[in-house]
Amino acid sequence: MAGPWITDFEEKFVLDALRNGWYGKNAYAYVEKFEYEFANYHDRKYSLMTPNCTTSIHLLLAGLGIQDGDEVIVPECTWIASAAPITYQRATTVFADIDPINWCIDPIAMEEKITSKTKAVIVVDLYGNMPNMDVLQSICDKHQIYLIEDAAESLGSKFKNTRAGKFGIASVFSFHRTKTITTGEGGMLLMDDENLYKRCKFLRDHGRAPGTYFNTEITFKYMPSNLAASLGYAQFLRIEELVAKKRWIWQKFKESFIDLPDIYLNPEPEGVVNSVWCTALVFGKSHSVTKDYVMNELNRLGLPSRPFFYPLTSLPAFGSKSEEGRINSPIAYDISERAINLPCAFNVNEEQIKLISETIKLVLKNVHKNMVNK
Ligand SMILES: Cc1ncc(COP(=O)(O)O)c(C=O)c1O
Repeated sequence: MAGPWITDFEEKFVLDALRNGWYGKNAYAYVEKFEYEFANYHDRKYSLMTPNCTTSIHLLLAGLGIQDGDEVIVPECTWIASAAPITYQRATTVFADIDPINWCIDPIAMEEKITSKTKAVIVVDLYGNMPNMDVLQSICDKHQIYLIEDAAESLGSKFKNTRAGKFGIASVFSFHRTKTITTGEGGMLLMDDENLYKRCKFLRDHGRAPGTYFNTEITFKYMPSNLAASLGYAQFLRIEELVAKKRWIWQKFKESFIDLPDIYLNPEPEGVVNSVWCTALVFGKSHSVTKDYVMNELNRLGLPSRPFFYPLTSLPAFGSKSEEGRINSPIAYDISERAINLPCAFNVNEEQIKLISETIKLVLKNVHKNMVNK
């Protein structure tokens, strides 16, 4: 379903870190190289590698001083990691509906949720899709709140020629095993504000100045590993090749579904480059299927798929508030119910893509046949 593309190229870097990356300047050499090049690529001034993207978000919220009594807005449909750090900071999570076309936070729904307590919005580039960042940023500017870009899934995407990861006060990336580039587990926090960078850097390592053993605050231990960074750096040097493969998977699914009406894959509107971390498939209402139905059918036939992100308010973790959530975020509930994620592993081949696509078509055909017979 999902997994990285590791070659001999990466092995050399990891072996070098393993053999040489322990003493003196070498102990963090790959972390520093990876942080520097990654920031440069995204036209950001500062970067901090972290143990994963969840800790990047947490570090940032803490660095921005978000705390008890503050509200932070997130889209209904995303991985829980976008929202969980808001709770870590004892702030309040406020959910906003998503856009029916790009599945990212809807600007009108977002603005409706802004109150005097709102400090930030976490905009998520879902599955590699880009929302209209101009509109979102201008709403945040108008209300003087921070825009945070969760670019965990959009490494390589662009909006109007600006890379995902360059939007808002800061952005975060994930290098989880399933992401476009991996360090096993890993994350990166990017920003342009020097004071915010200094604060986050201080918070990342037990509240001390680098090289000292004198702690002035109790903070976190979110330091990165040089070994992980060596893998990340090597993967990053192959970024164009990796993004091209992700786009190839998406193209092949698009071609395979060309004769199937009323289905929707990740969009790429004018002005957007979509790096398609994962190809998602929304079934139009004419197919009368739920994601559970299609996933069960595929599973019965031995083929993998995953659910489109559940609306967060529907999850027990957020109090199972489906009734209320459905009223607040009708689009998120509607789309999530009839959408699945297709395999996005780097080792997926054309034959497998065809098999999955043809099987999905067959499943839908049977549903239509049963409807006619009823
Ligand atoms: C949108 C989004 N945000 C945040 C994360 C968290 O990343 P990590 O697993 O590296 O903490 C992920 C992926 O897991 C994600 O998909």
